[in-house]
Amino acid sequence: MNLTRLVYYSQRNPSMSLNVPELLEVCKRNNSRMNVTGILHFNGNYFLQVLEGGRAEVSAIYHRIAADPRHINIILMSASDVRERIFPTWSMGLHEGMGEETKKIFLRYFPSENVNPEAINVDSLLDFLQDVSAELA
Ligand SMILES: Cc1cc2nc3c(=O)[nH]c(=O)nc-3n(C[C@H](O)[C@H](O)[C@H](O)COP(=O)(O)O)c2cc1C
Repeated sequence: MNLTRLVYYSQRNPSMSLNVPELLEVCKRNNSRMNVTGILHFNGNYFLQVLEGGRAEVSAIYHRIAADPRHINIILMSASDVRERIFPTWSMGLHEGMGEETKKIFLRYFPSENVNPEAINVDSLLDFLQDVSAELA
């Protein structure tokens, strides 16, 4: 079974209610059952998410996520086979907000502090998420 990493971004749907702790509980429950791990960054507007696990499992979860009306403008950045997970620790780690520390880390990888996923390359995004995930440990 191939190990796959999938990266996408999306925007919160302003016309739907969103309970982030509740969402995270569902992520953890489903993902751990399927040995899928990853990280979800939410800055109040954009979601940036990485899913890592078996190809079929990651694909099934992504299709469910993509059909979720709580977010819109869902853009798949990459999905590829990998040799190793970058985020093996969390069934779904949540990193929220853009505080001073996060901003500094963000500026290490991106030209301005504005999250503009269309101008973001996937490798820099993975580096950013890996750095902020240290805060979750
Ligand atoms: C931004 C975002 C990220 C999500 N991430 C996951 C996830 O990692 N795993 C998951 O199972 N569901 C995730 N969901 C929720 C799914 O869209 C869906 O509601 C859920 O999988 C349904 O699970 P249930 O049938 O157990 O209620 C996410 C939803 C949103 C809006």
